[in-house]
Amino acid sequence: MVEIKKIACLGVGLMGQGIAQVALMAGYDVVLVDIKDEFVDNAYKGIAVGMGKLAEKGKLPVKTPKTETTEAVKYTADELMAKCSKSTDLAAAVKDCDMVIEAVIEKMEVKKTVSKTTMDNGPDHIIFASNTSTMSITEIGKDCGKPGQVCGMHFFNPVPLMACIEIIKGDDTSDETFKTAMDTAKKLPVLRGKRYIAQVMKDRPGFIVNRLNAPANIYLSWAFDQALEKGILPDKPQMLDADIGKVAAMPPCVLSDYVGLDTLLHVMNYNEGALSPDFKPGKVLTDMVEKGLLGRKTGKGFYDWSGGRPQPDFSEKAGIIDINLLFSITLNEGCRILEEGVATGTKSVDDSNMAGMNSPGPFGWGKRNYEKAVGYLNAFVEKTGIEYLKPCDLLISGGFKKMRK
Ligand SMILES: NC(=O)c1ccc[n+]([C@@H]2O[C@H](COP(=O)([O-])OP(=O)(O)OC[C@H]3O[C@@H](n4cnc5c(N)ncnc54)[C@H](O)[C@@H]3O)[C@@H](O)[C@H]2O)c1
Repeated sequence: MVEIKKIACLGVGLMGQGIAQVALMAGYDVVLVDIKDEFVDNAYKGIAVGMGKLAEKGKLPVKTPKTETTEAVKYTADELMAKCSKSTDLAAAVKDCDMVIEAVIEKMEVKKTVSKTTMDNGPDHIIFASNTSTMSITEIGKDCGKPGQVCGMHFFNPVPLMACIEIIKGDDTSDETFKTAMDTAKKLPVLRGKRYIAQVMKDRPGFIVNRLNAPANIYLSWAFDQALEKGILPDKPQMLDADIGKVAAMPPCVLSDYVGLDTLLHVMNYNEGALSPDFKPGKVLTDMVEKGLLGRKTGKGFYDWSGGRPQPDFSEKAGIIDINLLFSITLNEGCRILEEGVATGTKSVDDSNMAGMNSPGPFGWGKRNYEKAVGYLNAFVEKTGIEYLKPCDLLISGGFKKMRK
């Protein structure tokens, strides 16, 4: 097994900075790599400020454990930052690294180029782990010369606070690479809750967490268009949200605004190509993005965010969104994930969702309600013709109940 001592964090924007921070906190040597000096300088400063704040709160890791006679001594921010260097030359930077975790822009040709540069210039044993949200790990590694040493390592935003890391096995990823990536990820600390590593056994779109939650957007986009036809949107998003009420931490219109309607549209467009044409975004979503009504980030989406997070009045319902159908859709996708061999069992899917989205997975509800779920889904497909939401065989048979592990 390769021993990981030094990690190159490649592309130190939003995600790369978080990854570098947790890698430093785990005790790894880290080199920050990006395309311009100002980017690596900014990232270094951002991480140093973050470490300083954690030090003040007493949240940096222990350097010397407590003994019978002495208290535990924690690392200082300066000690951890002393393990951090900077570079704008990937070929030179990887020469003494054992692993690259890349978080460069989401473009296949860029990811392929940097995986090849890594393999051409790094030591023989170097591992290349990609934080891509949507791209095929197999394709990223295919032409780099050592596809067995390429895997996915998918973090959730904000990295230091989100417990889930998905480790993805591409078609060519070796067992040794997969295990080394798992072991490395386990060592990365998380500031809230407990670190959870999801094993993604097949390189399929959305991996586990994003895939599980993707088809709910088909339904919600359909519901937005229904609400437009019935004159509920654009003026009364609170009525649609009232259909879900307090069952969800954020009801659909608030959540869509919070995530950003452009992000939702982008994810649906991606899934339209990767999974099914039924992911094609509807009229409401498309028009709102065209008009720049993106939600929280632009101050206006379904709601006006100028006064902070909206607190909708749930007194009148639209009667369009059925929470049971929403649960059924997610349960059905969980079963598809198992059918395709992406996850090892229902527990892994549920735990991944909790760690990645702070929300329970579908199988607790599903065990008791799967027969009803089949009925809800069939009725909806018959009404709308949205074939992707047809119940899959594993849901219909209830066979998922025997697949806990
Ligand atoms: N933002 C999220 O919530 C999120 C969550 C999970 C995964 N991801 C994935 O993480 C990756 C990065 O996303 P982000 O939101 O941090 O983006 P970002 O735009 O904040 O950062 C990307 C960084 O990559 C750098 N870069 C571009 N080309 C490069 C190259 N050839 N070599 C080195 N650096 C290069 C850019 O200068 C920038 O600093 C993407 O693949 C994205 O899909 C993002």
